[in-house]
Amino acid sequence: MENENIILIGFMGVGKGTVARALVKNSDYFAVDTDDLIESLENKKIKKIFEENGEPYFRNLEKKCALWCEKNIRGSIISTGGGFYKQENIKKIGKIIYLQSTFEKILEGIKNSPNAKKKLKKRPLLNDLNEAKKIYDQRVKEYEQVSDIIINVEDWDENVAAQNILKSLGK
Ligand code: S3P
Repeated sequence: MENENIILIGFMGVGKGTVARALVKNSDYFAVDTDDLIESLENKKIKKIFEENGEPYFRNLEKKCALWCEKNIRGSIISTGGGFYKQENIKKIGKIIYLQSTFEKILEGIKNSPNAKKKLKKRPLLNDLNEAKKIYDQRVKEYEQVSDIIINVEDWDENVAAQNILKSLGK
């Protein structure tokens, strides 16, 4: 469909934002990020929102954000928070691309990045890695089920992933 959005879903730290930026560089698309929209609306970092208002409050903001995206965003890339895929209307927002990787590879990627500490600290649900693994195991099937296209990003850099996405969309 002309003007259809591309939605990137997947686990925390898999590289949704990084791949979105690579897509913008490799195409005419522009991108927005649902966590960034929520942070700017609240004028607070996600971590602070979790600490001060709690997770249900954050999930409610995600819901509002999803409804707003459906109504207002066209022809764009939307990178999302790792739990955004649960939004009821997600299918109506656009074509869903699941960035797939193993839990181990995702952690390895975060730990090897130059700002590893920051990446771990800003994600409240990664504070406890045992709990994070449980969330990963719960979500893996659901990510697959909701997605239109699955792109494995375990061994690819963001530019290859972006090329693969564009190719699979016929662009
Ligand atoms: C979350 C993922 C985070 C952020 C919030 C909750 C999740 O986004 O939305 O901390 O439930 O998986 P990233 O996937 O960008 O880390």
